[in-house]
Amino acid sequence: MPHAAWAELEAAARRDADARIQEQFTADPDRLTRLTLDVAGLHIDLSKQSWTQAGLKAALALARACEVEGRRAALFNGEEVNLTEGRAVLHPALRAPDGAAFHALGEPVSAEVEAVRAEMKAYAEALRSGNETGASGRPFKTVLHIGIGGSDLGPRLIWDALRPLDPAIDLRFVANIDPRDMAEALIGLDPETTLVIVVSKSFTTQETLLNAQAAKAWLAAALPAEGMAKHFIGVTAAPDKAAAFGCGRTFAFRDWVGGRYSLWSAVSLSCVIGLGWDAFLGFLDGAVDLDRHFLEAPLERNAPVMLALAEIYNVDGLHRPARTVAPYAHALRRLPAFLQQLEMESNGKRVRCDGSPVGRQTCPIVFGEAGTNGQHAFFQQIHQGPQVVPSEFIIVASTNQRTLESPLWANALAQAQALMQGKTEAQARTELIASGASEDEADRLAPHKTFPGNRPSTAILMERLTPQTLGALIALYEHKTFVEGVLWDINSFDQWGVELGKVLAKALLKDVATGTPSADLDPSTADLLRRLTA
Ligand code: F6P
Repeated sequence: MPHAAWAELEAAARRDADARIQEQFTADPDRLTRLTLDVAGLHIDLSKQSWTQAGLKAALALARACEVEGRRAALFNGEEVNLTEGRAVLHPALRAPDGAAFHALGEPVSAEVEAVRAEMKAYAEALRSGNETGASGRPFKTVLHIGIGGSDLGPRLIWDALRPLDPAIDLRFVANIDPRDMAEALIGLDPETTLVIVVSKSFTTQETLLNAQAAKAWLAAALPAEGMAKHFIGVTAAPDKAAAFGCGRTFAFRDWVGGRYSLWSAVSLSCVIGLGWDAFLGFLDGAVDLDRHFLEAPLERNAPVMLALAEIYNVDGLHRPARTVAPYAHALRRLPAFLQQLEMESNGKRVRCDGSPVGRQTCPIVFGEAGTNGQHAFFQQIHQGPQVVPSEFIIVASTNQRTLESPLWANALAQAQALMQGKTEAQARTELIASGASEDEADRLAPHKTFPGNRPSTAILMERLTPQTLGALIALYEHKTFVEGVLWDINSFDQWGVELGKVLAKALLKDVATGTPSADLDPSTADLLRRLTA
């Protein structure tokens, strides 16, 4: 662990703690140039972050001391990066153009990636053209995508971001074990024109299997047994389990694809069917552009690295353990939920790769809402709360071309500006008096109308939300997450933290069956169980 580099970053942050962001622009005339980047259709502005030039220098020194470039090479070379599961981590291989030569732990994998992509393309085109029909010969009108976590959030984000308003083939998503989710998804659907895709890397996830069982029964009630295979397919890294479950065919991916990194694979088959192959290829290409940038750009001009360093500076340097993500585009409203899994399931870890305590804050609490909705929900706290919560504004310029009067991006810019410049108590008092308040009234209200300001934000701009810019945006966050894991020296690619709850839930279900809580249950859980099973 490069202790000296970490100590220098923390010292630089302490020195920066009282620096006014706004004053940095005059103190350092090149700040804007140094802290803005253009890559793969994205314009990234980190100049409203808290770091001074010295702070940035210390952050870059940490990146070098943590050998980010070496660990990046290990990932792209398919080395055993996921140490606790003994796996490579090769989501970049899924989006690489035909002819790539990726290896996972020495095994060539690009040919099979290309074979599955060709299968996806052919199947999607057959459905969209009507050549592949349901059992009764009618073309498919709806795809019911069943999955959860990484088998749901990515495809949902892609579909919401890129879907036509009135799609020829509609997509419905079911993730929750609550039957209401399935019930809502099935509203208005005809089994004869519905394709069910069961998406599960492990094909053991309880929620997905129960929902798949329900969907299978829904189909079977209306279709002849010999017709089921055309309506019920699987996407998984466990094709034998999918076949045993009754899936007509499966599209496979491998264990070197993490669930939260799997949206480049057949996990997004429903989106390929809904959007068409060209759109999905554009999505992959946008990510490839970002991959190339990540591999080639020097650290100080490297977007994923700079985003990671800005976050480390906030989290570990300035002790700001949260970040809000504000996509100022309705089509990106799912991005915060997607990033919660990508970042918090990857880096919400407390031990290093060698098992020793990490000894510092790691992944921040990531939360957010589409703008301007968030302004009317929690931005009060972002502006005037005691703790500083860095913000991230994703702005899509063309969102306004359809409704030029829409002030969407103006709101995003204004929020970032207000967070940085704030409003002093003296300014608040002057405004109150100017609006007719008495001196006493102004004295009383001014503290409540004061904005501390100096609150950092990042802006990520794109001209239009296209398959390419969406792919680049998601790959940007994937690589940022990876770089942060390298800096914290943690394994970003396992998720043991989700296992205990699953085991305890299974034990509780046994108690539910008997109706009597087992003796070793704590009083609270036992009491709640009794109430729920009474
Ligand atoms: O939350 C745990 C987890 O394993 C995620 O990592 C994964 O994306 C999700 O559950 C679904 O897993 P599967 O795709 O195997 O059903």
